[in-house]
Amino acid sequence: MVKTRLESIIRKKERLVVGLMSGTSVDSIDAVLVHFTGSGPSVAFRQLAFHTHIYPKGYKDYVLKNSLPGGGTVESLSSLNILSAHFFADAARSLAKKAGIPLSSIDLIGSHGQTVHHLPEERTMFGKKIRSTLQLGDPSTIAKLTGIVTVGNFRMGDMALGGQGAPLVPYFDLLAFRSATKNRLLLNIGGIANATLLKKNCTARDVVAFDTGPGNMLIDGLMKRFYSQPFDQNGMIAQSGNIEPLLLKYLMSHPYLQKTLPKSTGRELFGDHFINKILNVFKGLRKPDIIATVTEFTALSIYDQYLRFLRKRLKGDILSELVISGGGSRNTVLVDSLRRNFDGTMILMSDDLGVPSASKEALCFAVLANETVCGNPSNIPGVTGALRQTILGSISA
Ligand SMILES: Nc1ncnc2c1ncn2[C@@H]1O[C@H](COP(=O)(O)OP(=O)(O)O)[C@@H](O)[C@H]1O
Ligand SMILES: [Mg+2]
Repeated sequence: MVKTRLESIIRKKERLVVGLMSGTSVDSIDAVLVHFTGSGPSVAFRQLAFHTHIYPKGYKDYVLKNSLPGGGTVESLSSLNILSAHFFADAARSLAKKAGIPLSSIDLIGSHGQTVHHLPEERTMFGKKIRSTLQLGDPSTIAKLTGIVTVGNFRMGDMALGGQGAPLVPYFDLLAFRSATKNRLLLNIGGIANATLLKKNCTARDVVAFDTGPGNMLIDGLMKRFYSQPFDQNGMIAQSGNIEPLLLKYLMSHPYLQKTLPKSTGRELFGDHFINKILNVFKGLRKPDIIATVTEFTALSIYDQYLRFLRKRLKGDILSELVISGGGSRNTVLVDSLRRNFDGTMILMSDDLGVPSASKEALCFAVLANETVCGNPSNIPGVTGALRQTILGSISA
């Protein structure tokens, strides 16, 4: 039965796939319904519906607490793995309702899961060299609750082959944004910011991509401490503050910026521990000035990483476009600073190129799930550092 179901999904010429994403911001689940024909280089996809699934009050704080070293117990993490899957299943259900289709007409779910920890650097334990990452939201539970074949745990396969397991979005970027005439830098500003450089006419081998450092993570963390707000709405607080040069200099000396590629990061480096450190070293600064300075740092670190690791790849050619997506694209102070720094480059929102900013990452995991069931590899070894290309994810039916 299961075998024939999987076989029929694989054989189909067209598929309806749901992509589910909850990023390190833990703000909501982004759920997208996508129509696919084919797979691999000849794939074509179209977004049919999008839904933002809001978490219950207190859930974000609970996840963040459980993401801290020493913050979670095995009991809470075990429960959260299943609870999170329930929310992902609810998101798929609400999306189907919004789209006016029965759940049974959906062929496949691709679920990123909720990252609670990411340890991409190799460490030796009991004689074994390992890298690890933990995304909660058990795919098997999602499959049982929805009745839809679900692909999850996308990052582990790449890590098993020596990769960082991240970023995975560049595979999607290449499909959606490659241009024959323009050098494009894709920038997703979620909790963490990641950049993908697509030179004109590039192939997967030419793609350079990595996490540049914090996206909204520092701004959100400090807004919570100072004002009990989840984020700086449209950058209004940053707008009212002044940049503190000494704090900015301190932030720009963060060792992650010097780290060579491949690299990826998360809350481990730019979460609460780092915020405590900043507030310890810089006492007595005005709150809006601190928000203004970390906002400037967020933009400046992105530009710094472009200068350090990407500009030389253009070999003197110009960067034609910077294409921004993710929630940070709504922080006008952040975007204005990027505009100033990337002077001479056209600044676009991914929406301008047909990919809605809010659904980009969810779309990516629909694409990756589609590739997985079709037996296509979807990591880019030059990006993650893995030994070779490989099929990602585990399939639950
Ligand atoms: N109107 C807005 N003004 C400023 N920041 C915003 C706004 N809307 C969303 N954001 C930021 O975007 C974040 C969510 O972005 P998202 O792309 O979903 O990140 P993630 O992938 O980490 O979940 C919020 O936590 C917030 O920092
Ligand atoms: Mg989000």
